[in-house]
Amino acid sequence: TTMSAIAEPPPLEKKDRYKVGFAQTESNNPWRIAQTKSFEETAETCGWDLIATDATGSAAKQVADVDSMIAQGIDVLFLPPREEKPLIPAVMKAQAAGIPTFLVDRSVDQNVAQAGNHYVSFLGSDFIDQGQRVAEWVIENFDGDKGIIVELEGTTGSSPARDRKSGFDDTIVKDARFEIVASQTGDFARDMGRQVMETLLQAHPDVNIVYAHNDEMAIGAIQALELAGRKPGEDVMVVSIDGTRDALQAIIDGKMGVTVESSPFFGPLACEVMQKYAAGEEIPAWVKVEDRIFTAENAADHIDEAY
Ligand code: AHR
Repeated sequence: TTMSAIAEPPPLEKKDRYKVGFAQTESNNPWRIAQTKSFEETAETCGWDLIATDATGSAAKQVADVDSMIAQGIDVLFLPPREEKPLIPAVMKAQAAGIPTFLVDRSVDQNVAQAGNHYVSFLGSDFIDQGQRVAEWVIENFDGDKGIIVELEGTTGSSPARDRKSGFDDTIVKDARFEIVASQTGDFARDMGRQVMETLLQAHPDVNIVYAHNDEMAIGAIQALELAGRKPGEDVMVVSIDGTRDALQAIIDGKMGVTVESSPFFGPLACEVMQKYAAGEEIPAWVKVEDRIFTAENAADHIDEAY
């Protein structure tokens, strides 16, 4: 027939060495650098000839990077799609070229592309759960009468920004003490987090809780708060997600309350899942990464292994 729906992702041949593509989104934060390093280190142990690219924060470049990997004849693609919709063409083109794709850490629009069909599987954290756990921690640990919250969102159109927002917002509204007075993107970046926080502080000087969708923006917010004479950790509770070294240090210093882990160390998992797929094993649509939680109780125990 001329119109046959492709029912499953391309298979992966069993080989000693694979040409592996890893198309990174950007490298302006420690999380991304740790993720790329994890793939580079795994290349040594998993028999990969790795082609790693850096889209420098541009979804269009990330699509072009995947195009060039396809042209170079990669056997398999690991893709953290920067944004959910713009990266759909990259997933579709890899599939059309017979290259099995694994989405790592971020996802694409599920209405258009699905695991077990357009790509093999999604390897990553439960971002909704991360947001919920931050909100639950705030509900338990905030001891004021009224919690005035500023939310710093991740990259607009990315799956972690959407899910970390809904997970947090849907949980925090259940407690009438809390109000989110502003929610704006800081693009997961420290500088932008600082700038957005500076602006929002002027409009909402009574803010006493900052929820940032990642640690880099939380650190930027702490800088803005301190510059404005506020005392993060004392008069403003700062909470976020990732588990970077700077965030764990901020917790130890008493400036940050909690960070829910979002592990960037995907290399070993990618190796394992890829080998299983090549062996013909069934791969679940979502290979879930379990995340820990870091607070004043355990931050010092984990800072040495942090990135
Ligand atoms: O997709 C995961 C998020 O992307 C991390 O939380 C953030 O730091 C990174 O840029």
